Amino acid sequence: MPAHVEERLAGLSRVKVIMQRIDPCLTGTDRALCDLLRVACDAALGAGEIIRSLYEKPHRIRMKGKIDLVTEADVASERAIVDRLRRHSGTPILAEESGSDLSADVSGPLWVVDPLDGTTNFAHGFPYFGISIAYSVAQVSQVGAIYCPLTDELFCAGRGMGAWLNGRAIRVSDRRQLIESLVGTGFPYAIRENLEEVVSLLGRVLPEVRDLRRAGAAAVDLAYLACGRLDGFWELDLKPWDTAAGQLLVEEAGGRVSTLGGGDWNPWRKEILASNGGIHGQLGELLF
Ligand code: IPD
Ligand code: CA
Ligand code: CA
Repeated sequence: MPAHVEERLAGLSRVKVIMQRIDPCLTGTDRALCDLLRVACDAALGAGEIIRSLYEKPHRIRMKGKIDLVTEADVASERAIVDRLRRHSGTPILAEESGSDLSADVSGPLWVVDPLDGTTNFAHGFPYFGISIAYSVAQVSQVGAIYCPLTDELFCAGRGMGAWLNGRAIRVSDRRQLIESLVGTGFPYAIRENLEEVVSLLGRVLPEVRDLRRAGAAAVDLAYLACGRLDGFWELDLKPWDTAAGQLLVEEAGGRVSTLGGGDWNPWRKEILASNGGIHGQLGELLF
């Protein structure tokens, strides 16, 4: 078979596989929300292909700070996502690598994009990273998609519609005892300025849980919480693109997201406590 025909057939079967994963999530009555969810998933899957193709090649790395990196994959992924979202509408986009202004007006609709969450992992060949895309209105996430290209796992959620992993509905775990729980956390890039607080929280939580993971991609941690692989998660200094999609996934999967003290939360709050709900109070008491 000629190469161009083979390529076209591969493309068609890819579209079919994608639709099998997204279509079961689009049974809600809100057509506009379904449309946004499809766009977010499609953009995440497209970016995932780019990231997967670059994973085993040598990387071009630029330093954003002392330990904070950006690679050719962050840039290429963001470009592809922004193109896809722009083709859909003129909704403003808050994207990590485009010099996004965090103090910009957030009272209206906004796409919130992390083109590669877990850049340090990607750069070191540690296979735990993902793409996170949310559609937010007045700081409330309406749809969210997180795609892990190496495991080919597409997590998505729509407000009031539910949360899915590759088209199957997901729920948070039902654990209620902290000592039986696996919890996650992350360390801020500004760890040198926050060291005492980060270490002190770790010291309080570690003896009280079954175990703890610092896997290196906050959005993926939240997706793992939404499907029951983690029972709780906290971090001190995150950005909206790290959490906007993950928050919706966790809540739509039956979990809870708040400040460390249990207060109201939105993705523009830097600290986050997320859990299956059952251990929220116990974990919050240790952290606050
Ligand atoms: C980082 C990861 C990491 C978390 C950092 C984030 P990036 O995002 O989510 O797990 O601890 O706080 O900034 O830079 O890889 O997109
Ligand atoms: Ca991130
Ligand atoms: Ca990133």
